[in-house]
Amino acid sequence: MCHNEKYCHEDITNDMWEKIDAVIQTHKQTPGAVITVLRECQDIVNYLPTQLIDYIADGMNLPSSEVFGVASFYSLFSLKPKGRHTVKICTGTACYVKGIREVLSRIEGEFDLCEGETSENRRFSLQGVRCLGACGLAPVMVVGEDTHGDVKPEKVVQILDKYK
Ligand code: FES
Repeated sequence: MCHNEKYCHEDITNDMWEKIDAVIQTHKQTPGAVITVLRECQDIVNYLPTQLIDYIADGMNLPSSEVFGVASFYSLFSLKPKGRHTVKICTGTACYVKGIREVLSRIEGEFDLCEGETSENRRFSLQGVRCLGACGLAPVMVVGEDTHGDVKPEKVVQILDKYK
């Protein structure tokens, strides 16, 4: 049974609701705390479902539209579920020249994943990034905190298989 009938959401457990309540209680009297509250709630749930945004708005005594506006303005916030691992693929010139397109196609085909999307099983989120600042290692892919250089299409599946 959901702890929070009105705002019930399959991705938010009762345990999470308790933590969310604690975050709101801590910050509800602080003007301008909505970004902090959104960030801490996103850390708890992994993203910001609409029901959670409405709940935060109620708890902070703010219009939902205002909280939604903040959540959609900052790239820090995600309104869609994120994968357990974020895969950043560099689409900058050096990486492009060294064949990152083929690497990207291989990932998309093997993991049924599109750039900008999260896989069905929420294992990976795939992002294209202009330059990852490691052009000497091109083509480059970053998974979570790990940078992988000289990534070849025939190696990439093996690399990603280590991230469960
Ligand atoms: S162009 Fe890929 S890391 Fe710079």
